Formats: sequence, C-alpha cells, structure tokens
Amino acid sequence: MKQADLLFYNIGQLLTMDSDVDGPVKGKDMQKLTVIENGAVAVKDGKVIAAGKEEELKDIEAVEKIDCEGKLVTPGLVEPHTHLVFGGSREHEMALKQQGASYLEILEQGGGILSTVRATRETSYEDLVEKAKFHLERMMSYGVTTMEAKSGYGLDVDTEMKQLKVVQQLQKESKMDIVSTFLGAHAIPEERKGEPEKFLDEMAAMFPEIKEKGLAEFVDIFCETGVFSVEQSRDFLKKAKEAGFRVKIHADEIDPLGGAELAADLGAISGDHLVGASDEGIRRMAEEGVIADLLPGTSFYLGKKSHARARDMIKAGGAVALSTDFNPGSSVTENLQMIMSLAALNLKMTPEEIWHAVTVNSAHAIGRGETAGKIAPGRKADLVIWDAPNYLYIPYHYGVNHVNTVYKAGEKLYE
Ligand code: NIG
Ligand code: FE
Repeated sequence: MKQADLLFYNIGQLLTMDSDVDGPVKGKDMQKLTVIENGAVAVKDGKVIAAGKEEELKDIEAVEKIDCEGKLVTPGLVEPHTHLVFGGSREHEMALKQQGASYLEILEQGGGILSTVRATRETSYEDLVEKAKFHLERMMSYGVTTMEAKSGYGLDVDTEMKQLKVVQQLQKESKMDIVSTFLGAHAIPEERKGEPEKFLDEMAAMFPEIKEKGLAEFVDIFCETGVFSVEQSRDFLKKAKEAGFRVKIHADEIDPLGGAELAADLGAISGDHLVGASDEGIRRMAEEGVIADLLPGTSFYLGKKSHARARDMIKAGGAVALSTDFNPGSSVTENLQMIMSLAALNLKMTPEEIWHAVTVNSAHAIGRGETAGKIAPGRKADLVIWDAPNYLYIPYHYGVNHVNTVYKAGEKLYE
C-alpha cells in the first residue's frame, strides 16, 4: 500500500495534459488530448504521486479522500502575459473609443498607457501591492495557479524598480507562482518624447541590476507604430539577451510591422498578440520554435474585426498559447475562461487545442514547462475541479466562472 495525503476520486473527466511530447505541443499534436474517464489523482507533500484511472490507483491509501462527483479535473491554468501591477484605471477611455478614437490615437495624445504611467508613479508601493494582490486573487479564483506579470507603467528607473519589487513581494507572499518580466520599453514617456533611443538606453542600463537582484526573468518590448520600431526593438532585445535574459515581444498587435519575424530572428521564448503577423513571420516562428502567445481578449476589447491567425499558426506546425493580457487599457479582465471562449469563437481553435494553450504551452511560454501545466508525478499538485461535466463545456458556456475548487500544491484555495 502506498500512502498519500489526498486522493481525488470519482473524476468524470481527468485531463492530465501529460503526453509523450517533450516541450511545447505543436501543430497537429495540439489536437491530441487524452481524456481519462473515472480518473483519480493522489497527492503527497503537496506533489502529485500518481494520476490515472481510478482502478490504477486502488493500491493507494489516503488520509483524506475528495469525491469529485463526476466533475472535470484539469491542471491549474497557466497565464503567460499580464500587466498585473498598475495604479488607477481607465474607464473614461471607453467613451473616447465609442466616439471613434483608436487605441494608438489615445496613446499619442498622452492617454492610454501614459495615463496609467502617471497613476502608477503616484501610487505608493504598499497600495500597488494591495491592488495587484486583489487582481491576482481574482485570477486565481478563475483557475490560474501560475502566471506572468510585467512591469511597464513606470517608464523611469525608480518606478520600474518599484513595480518589479511589487512582483517580487507577491512572489514571496502569494500562493500563486509568479514569473516576472521587465517591460520598461512599453511606451515612450512624455519626458522622453522624440528621444526613443535615449529612453531605451536608460531602460537597458537597468538590466544588470535587475539581473543581479533577480527581479525579472524575461525582457519584453512593445514593438508597434508610434512606439518602438522593429530595429529599435531588435537592438534593445539583443542587449537584454547579452545581459542574460530571455526575451518576449508585443509583436504585430495592431499594425503588421514584422514583429513575428523579429521574434524568430531573436529566438524569443514567445511572440505575443500577432494579429498582424505575416505568412513569413508565422512560418519562421514555427520553424524557430517560438511560441505564439495569442490574446483574443485584446482584439475583442479593442473592437477589432481581424484576429490572430491561430489556424495558420497551427497548420505551420507552431505551438500556440493563450492569455488574458490583463491590463487597464486593452483587455480589462482576469478571466482566462472567457479567453478560452474567444479563442473558440474568434480564433477558431478547437477545445483540444485550447486546453493545450492554457496549460502545457502557456507554461513553456514563461519557462515553466517542466514544473507547471500538467498533472504528473513529481509536479506540484496544482489542479482545478470544475463545475462542468466535460472539457468541452468551459469554452462553450462563456463569461462566467466554472471553478468549483482550486488546489495549489495540494492546498485548497477557492471553492
Ligand atoms: O498588451 N500593447 C501594449 N500593452 C498592453 C496594453 C497596455 C495598456 O493599454 O495599458 C497590451 O495590449
Ligand atoms: Fe500586453
């Protein structure tokens, strides 16, 4: 008899997301989903010790047995792209957009990201921690157990540091596993208008200290019309790589500039957004193994008619991940389940592809492929019991929270 602390049994459908594939799940493989009916999961010391059919785990004795009542159980979701830490909010921009102002026009006029920069500079460290914690907990209540958080609303040395330290404090205090990204190159601050290169040099000068203090693992940039060009982005991210960071790119989010090609050239861990990615960019990202992190909530929220070409990316043999892009301007939601619905409706992804995109592939997009996104022996027992009869149900029934219970490292967090 093997001993466990917890045994989850009577699982109607169990998705462990464990497979023979090493690394991100690409192309046609994203369609292959193993569904275990009548499943069980055994946990000891916060880690999974066995997962499979209930009869395969019958030799395991557990201190506590949890009846999953025929529900769906999956790994905790992994959220690979958020702008978690910011001051203020931007509800007034909704009316501007209704009157016809575009996202980039609002930014050009000193609003958008720059208005959040002003608010973030004015907000105290303690208040930023509290606010970020509030959003993080809501995200967790929606089933996310590992997430990424970017800086990028400071755009000066002190405030960028403040944001990164907020993330570091949350990493220590929160149950959520958090991966930190430095996005000092998120926009050109008002005091550096017309001097993008000078500003990027100032941000790049922060790399050694960020590295030394372990304040971020990744460096990101907003490569976009009116923000940073492809060449400026290339130069900045090359310096980031030289300083020992892996890189990510807000690529081809609004205008098709060639951000996807840049992500491939640099061997970025992910290229994010990609609404305007070219055929060549899509092909090269797949070839270079750069994960396409798609954020359909942003195109939805910005009222765009075109969407990232997930079908072409998968056809090209690429790996796709999905994310909320949670931020106060272009995608104001902590609900990754809603993003799963938008991926089905607007990106035409199948439910099987979607589950890969919010677990294994999103974990790989933030360098956590070996520890998160799967229910497998040796991994943390991060799992969600869903009020749903099967895995198709989550993207299908949209806009609400289907979480029954979230477990983080074997500890019950939300129910
Ligand atoms: O991913 N595009 C740049 N950054 C965010 C939006 C940030 C904001 O509007 O505050 C994005 O869309
Ligand atoms: Fe973003």
